[in-house]
Amino acid sequence: MASQEDVFKKIVAHCKEYGFVFPSSEIYDGLGAVYDYGENGVELKNNIKGYWWDFMRLLHTNIVGIDAAIFMHPTTWKASGHVDAFNDPLIDNRDSKKRYRADVLIEELMAKYDEKINKEVEKAAKKFGDAFDKEKFMATNPRVLEHVAKREEIHNRFKKAMNDVNLDELKQIILDYEIVCPISGTKNWTDVRQFNLMFSTEMGSTADGATKIYLRPETAQGIFVNYLNVQKTGRMKLPFGICQIGKAFRNEIVARQFIFRMREFEQMEMQFFCRPGTEMKWFNYWKQHRLNWHKALGLGDQKYRFHDHDKLAHYANAATDIEFEMPFGFKEVEGIHSRTNFDLSSHEKYSGKQIKYFDPELNESYTPYVVETSIGVDRMFLSIVCSSYKEEQLENGETRVVLSLPPVLAPNKVAVLPLIKKDGLPEKAQEIMDLLKYDFKCVSEEKDTIGKRYRRQDAIGTPFCVTVDHQTLEDNTVTLRYRDTMQQDRVKIDDLFNIIDKACNIKHLLRKLNADEKAENLSAE
Ligand code: GAP
Repeated sequence: MASQEDVFKKIVAHCKEYGFVFPSSEIYDGLGAVYDYGENGVELKNNIKGYWWDFMRLLHTNIVGIDAAIFMHPTTWKASGHVDAFNDPLIDNRDSKKRYRADVLIEELMAKYDEKINKEVEKAAKKFGDAFDKEKFMATNPRVLEHVAKREEIHNRFKKAMNDVNLDELKQIILDYEIVCPISGTKNWTDVRQFNLMFSTEMGSTADGATKIYLRPETAQGIFVNYLNVQKTGRMKLPFGICQIGKAFRNEIVARQFIFRMREFEQMEMQFFCRPGTEMKWFNYWKQHRLNWHKALGLGDQKYRFHDHDKLAHYANAATDIEFEMPFGFKEVEGIHSRTNFDLSSHEKYSGKQIKYFDPELNESYTPYVVETSIGVDRMFLSIVCSSYKEEQLENGETRVVLSLPPVLAPNKVAVLPLIKKDGLPEKAQEIMDLLKYDFKCVSEEKDTIGKRYRRQDAIGTPFCVTVDHQTLEDNTVTLRYRDTMQQDRVKIDDLFNIIDKACNIKHLLRKLNADEKAENLSAE
């Protein structure tokens, strides 16, 4: 069986071969941790954004969208704390000359202990079969207890060092637990230093006295500085949300794993403004609500988990990640943060403008609290492609590669394929395209055997293929082939719209999500 690393390499290669993701400016050998989306990638990415954008604005009449500029007044970043505190703790290995994030090295060590514990559990589960009592085993097995204690010890020291921003202690943990450089294998480490992640540039010419400005490291600040505008012009009443999709930039030092950690990426963020004291209620609501949004795509409920933060960002009083199981382990895809009134209060202080809400029910003014949901489009893209990529062994001995993308997100919804290039079949195929193209992204292909064309559509995740043959000219029926089962049905052209719409229209997914949540009584009250 191929290792997860090999599978991931194949996924990266597949993304390039089939027009999903290219290295940026590849003819110049690319640019580190920057990527371009190709003809299929951009469709998938836009569909992800559409699913999120519609979920936010259509299912919540108290959420509105904005599109703020990437460049912002430089004081924004002083007020937000990013100039002083948006840092990564870095450490260099003197022998390999490689640079690492000290926190990541320690987290990887803790993950190794988790792995050891899991292995012991798996081994025992196999040995004892149905009689296996995991809880008892975890509480009594000496090897497991030893690993758990060690992990706990590292975890406690790490948590304290991060919260105290104690760089010397971070280095000491690395030395005490003998973490070695994966390249040189040595423990010849430098001290840990802070490194600010923001990119800066200059606005205006130097002669005029250029101003140093930053490329935004998060889209959220564009929402905070527009809070007053939107509250007033939209006549918004608390609680309400403002959402936005846009680019963000971070000078990531350890930029690995393809589009997982990029220097230019896209975020979908929503700031939910609420009355002080209600923020934990809303935090818990948004945690569950966002998880439901992910799960509704049908990639498998077991692939998600929450990870509560040990170290809270400078603005937060509670934070959790929604993690997704990637080929390289469970990784953060989305963050849900209770940001208190930190940002609005700070902008009030730095700008000198009153940023308050008059609450008619309480008959008082206050600075709203904020619960934020923040998801990376590119990470979401990666999680979807990774879990959809499948290599299947067919009965005839062939293998096929299929991207079982959720149909609502697939770049193309339907491929219309004339069986042969003559006898009026291409013209009939065009007629069908004309019927469907206003509602669904369609493709047509005439070259190659029908089998090869099916394979190509499987590889880019097209949920439906419609084959036009001679019988079509006689009775207006076509062969409809389903991507995942490869089943083929004879259907009327008139029925195509409904079949494709049912599977591919985001509207149906949102309606089901809403109904399921109502049945579960999910509410913030
Ligand atoms: N406004 C809050 C905020 O930006 P974050 O946890 O730093 O929080 C939110 O980022 C999300 O943005 C992450 O969960 C991740 O999906 C995405 N993200 C962050 N840094 C990224 C990077 N370098 N490359 C790709 N996505 C990134």
